[in-house]
Amino acid sequence: MSDGERVTAVGPGRVNLIGEHTDSSGGLVLPLAIDLATTISGTRGGDEVVLVSPDEAHPAVVALDVADPAIATPGWARYVAGVVAQVRPSEGFVGEVTTTLPIGAGLSSSAALEVALALALGFEGSVTELARVTQLAEQQASGVPCGIMDQLASAAGIAGRALLIDCHDLTITPIAVPDDVEIRVIHSGQARQLAGSAYAERTASVAAAEAELGPLRLIEDPGTADALDDEVLRRRARHVISENARVRAVAAALPAGDLAAVGEALVASHTSLRDDFEVSTPVLDALVDRLNATEGVIGARLTGAGFGGCVVALTRPGTLQEGWLVTPSPGARLL
Ligand code: GLA
Repeated sequence: MSDGERVTAVGPGRVNLIGEHTDSSGGLVLPLAIDLATTISGTRGGDEVVLVSPDEAHPAVVALDVADPAIATPGWARYVAGVVAQVRPSEGFVGEVTTTLPIGAGLSSSAALEVALALALGFEGSVTELARVTQLAEQQASGVPCGIMDQLASAAGIAGRALLIDCHDLTITPIAVPDDVEIRVIHSGQARQLAGSAYAERTASVAAAEAELGPLRLIEDPGTADALDDEVLRRRARHVISENARVRAVAAALPAGDLAAVGEALVASHTSLRDDFEVSTPVLDALVDRLNATEGVIGARLTGAGFGGCVVALTRPGTLQEGWLVTPSPGARLL
């Protein structure tokens, strides 16, 4: 690609079907890239990355040798700076960012921006390398020790498939989503609160449980957590162990069309996130309960980090009109 040639990169958002707060301990997740995405279009050259967006009042202007992405302004420039600091492109970029994703709603608008920008800047590694550098960019930009799920789902998406990701070795198994199942994402109306500090606290609790029990991803019986003296750590570990088992169950039941088993696991996941991992809110609980009581809903649960944000519902076709109807879509790419 020569200087001055137009470059267009697309990064999709993601929704996680099941496997919440399991990625940081190398567990299992089942997300998919969705058909709502961020597009970056522009030209390479110069010694700055300059991006404008119709959704932002001020441009992001980032020097190629940016030192501390976390202090870049305006706020969205932190994510741009994070990617520049990780990719360290040899030349700058001037372009525009547009998105069909709701920003900050829990559909990984930041991961979509990061993976699209890394490609626009000329990053040439594998899909897992793309996910790794953009995960580090997100961590640097936000100060939150997030796992790899969001960036890997956005980077590796496959049309018509959810992605069973083993977050320990980063192997990806495509899982067919039956044609007669719709995926809806519904915002709770509650902005995500304390997501950063509480997320870091939960990750630390899981690490503390692992210091006593060993890697939770290798444990099959949730009762193993009973060996922990600390009552809170016991519940945190029980969530992670049982959630990994639920991901396995859904990855088997979904392509087989066993929707009763899928629904049961989704409902159990929400209960575990509410009671054992304690990342739900009364608003999310009420929405999940209403959806799960609706005829035609296979199962609904909070999706993403929690503390507000979105619920995912799997339904029979045409059941719900609210929220976003999303379809499993290809991952990040240059057009
Ligand atoms: C956020 C993080 C992910 C993952 C989820 C919870 O989206 O970025 O890495 O941990 O929360 O499953």
